[in-house]
Amino acid sequence: MKAVVYKKYGPPEVLQVEEVQKPCPGDDEVLIRVRAAEVTKGDCEMRSFNYAVKWFWLPLRLAMGVRAPRRPILGGYFSGEVEAIGKDVSRFKAGDQVFGAAQLKMGAYAEYICLPAHYTIVEKPRNISFEEAAAVPLGGLNALHFMRKANVRSGEKVLINGAGGSIGTFAVQIAKLMGAEVTAVDSPIKEDMLRSIGADHFIDYTKRDITYSGESYDVIFNMVAKSSYSRFMKVLSPTGRYLMGNPRISDMLRSFLTSKFSDRSVFFAFAGEKEEELLALKDMINAEKIKPALDKIYSMEQVVEAHQRVEKEQRLGIVVIATHLNNVG
Ligand SMILES: NC(=O)c1ccc[n+]([C@@H]2O[C@H](COP(=O)([O-])OP(=O)(O)OC[C@H]3O[C@@H](n4cnc5c(N)ncnc54)[C@H](OP(=O)(O)O)[C@@H]3O)[C@@H](O)[C@H]2O)c1
Repeated sequence: MKAVVYKKYGPPEVLQVEEVQKPCPGDDEVLIRVRAAEVTKGDCEMRSFNYAVKWFWLPLRLAMGVRAPRRPILGGYFSGEVEAIGKDVSRFKAGDQVFGAAQLKMGAYAEYICLPAHYTIVEKPRNISFEEAAAVPLGGLNALHFMRKANVRSGEKVLINGAGGSIGTFAVQIAKLMGAEVTAVDSPIKEDMLRSIGADHFIDYTKRDITYSGESYDVIFNMVAKSSYSRFMKVLSPTGRYLMGNPRISDMLRSFLTSKFSDRSVFFAFAGEKEEELLALKDMINAEKIKPALDKIYSMEQVVEAHQRVEKEQRLGIVVIATHLNNVG
């Protein structure tokens, strides 16, 4: 089968399309013919081993491979069709259209992926394409996890920093569904897109500081590691909740002081990416309450451009690679 592989850490050019062995499902596994996979900021960080947050460099390097990547195929989030199942699998059958998360096993930048059947893999929403479905699990699962943790109530003011990215575009829509008044913070080319998916207010971070309006927020969800903790505290209401998607170690330490010595709470746990959450997202999509904001679809052969776009360019939402395309952009 065809797959995008990387044999060393480095720039997008380390990614190459190669013929590799097609996987074969074990007794408790499912073999999926991948139709599309999201190209995430996390994939780019794993490929280059360059993380905005430095504290997990060592544990992650030990897990991913010290000298070279232990798992040479990236891609944690996908959509596709079940091709075969192991003898102990009953929850899938050949032909099922699914989408899901491959966890740290990765491997979705390929024509086929083999995963344990208990992973977070569920039936794909009927009303969106495979490319759109692949754009859901990362952003949707993370946004839902954090918005539920924040326990957003109707009428509350929610600020989302980094709103135009994979997680942010879902967080905007889920916070709106929960009845919040949403302020999106990102770069100016994303304003129209963010308003079109429900943002009530927009702050261009290249021109204005979030403290400029004197507004305070009940919930702040921050995806941008380099943001200043104290600036967010200035605009968080006295009983507000601050959620960090990408916390630095200093911010985690400060969060204990905030939670101990004030009525504010700070939260930074990684999302569990549970099946129940993906089913909830599927229902929201089927009911047309949320939708993935797709930026561009690339073929496998264009994976270098896809990584360059996610890493360096200002994209309008989510980038995917589709396995059946040939050099379209
Ligand atoms: N906690 C978790 O469980 C978890 C899970 C997955 C990922 N993450 C991490 O969370 C981060 C965000 O993920 P993502 O996939 O949503 O990333 P993403 O798609 O790159 O989105 C980040 C957004 O933030 C914008 N941005 C950059 N600098 C900004 C600033 N100073 N102020 C406001 N907005 C700014 C970016 O816009 P530009 O176009 O201007 O750059 C982009 O729209 C990643 O670093 C990822 O590794 C955390």
